[in-house]
Amino acid sequence: VLARIRDDLGSSDPTVMEISHRGAAFDRIAGRTEELLRSLLAVPDDFAVLFVQGGATAQFAAAPLNLVPDRGTADHVVTGAWSARAAAEASRFCRVSIVADNAPGRRTIPDPGTWRTDPAASYLAIAMNETIDGVEFGSVPDAGGVPIVCDASSTLMSRPVDVSSFGVLYGGTQKNLGIAGLTVVLVRRSLLGRSGREVPAVLDWAALEASSSRLNTPPTFTWYVTGLVLEWIEGEGGLAEMARRSRARMESLYSAIDASSLYTNDVDPACRSWTNVPFRVGDGSRDDAFLAGAAEAGLVGLRGHRSVGGMRASLYNAMPQDGVDELIAYMADFEAARA
Ligand SMILES: Cc1ncc(COP(=O)(O)O)c(C=O)c1O
Repeated sequence: VLARIRDDLGSSDPTVMEISHRGAAFDRIAGRTEELLRSLLAVPDDFAVLFVQGGATAQFAAAPLNLVPDRGTADHVVTGAWSARAAAEASRFCRVSIVADNAPGRRTIPDPGTWRTDPAASYLAIAMNETIDGVEFGSVPDAGGVPIVCDASSTLMSRPVDVSSFGVLYGGTQKNLGIAGLTVVLVRRSLLGRSGREVPAVLDWAALEASSSRLNTPPTFTWYVTGLVLEWIEGEGGLAEMARRSRARMESLYSAIDASSLYTNDVDPACRSWTNVPFRVGDGSRDDAFLAGAAEAGLVGLRGHRSVGGMRASLYNAMPQDGVDELIAYMADFEAARA
């Protein structure tokens, strides 16, 4: 297997999978990855940058364990499937108050003026972008001094954000940063150890920071690929350029949907996601035909999440504008053929 991997990589040098995660060679990879992430995202010095395992899902539990003291409370805003999952998981470890909730099927962000927040809560949790529902915060809400814990799984490194407006910001690498296996967690250092509780070591942000995210064996290959993707982002012009491309991709697709009489996107226009565009094909009766034709045209991965149905186009950093243009052209052909 190693020989085959070396062949595929075109080199006889030891691959990143063969070296020690505590050796100098991997130190350089890890150091460079953190340096790139810090500079591209302008991460303030008072934030720790952690590379951890367990996905964003593990952070749903890590947030209450690290931040909420005994008998404390966490405020959660529920804007879709992922923020609901985060609230449910947190409620296993602390008291959770749902300060705002979308009615099922209502795809919007409840007006922050109506949120029933608690100034004594240990944090306010939001999902920056709901990957399944296609609902996204256009700006960071005012939490009145309570640290915001933000799940940025589907948007991290797709455009600039002001890291200093959060207490914690996290997201998996599998969407905009390469492949599965690693989660980037940015934590304001003053929040490390905040809960005073026993925290399982692999979820303990302070312990992870103290061990340079190598408390145990990390997924070295994923880490290496993340570094390469960050280098690519830098070479392409950084997050300003990622944002320009992301905006162009989503604007072209929403325009096509809005101009058509077959396709609809039912997200409140003020909260439309830049990255995940859910849409319906008429009454849904032609979904299978739409997907079959799309696959023939080389357009795959368009079926919406099973919980919501319809279609979803995910427009992560790796998606070129050409891919979106091909989708738009196919959608127009499909609509015209059935007119
Ligand atoms: C917004 C959001 N949060 C959390 C998750 C869960 O991430 P993971 O599978 O890395 O645990 C996802 C995965 O798609 C997501 O999109």
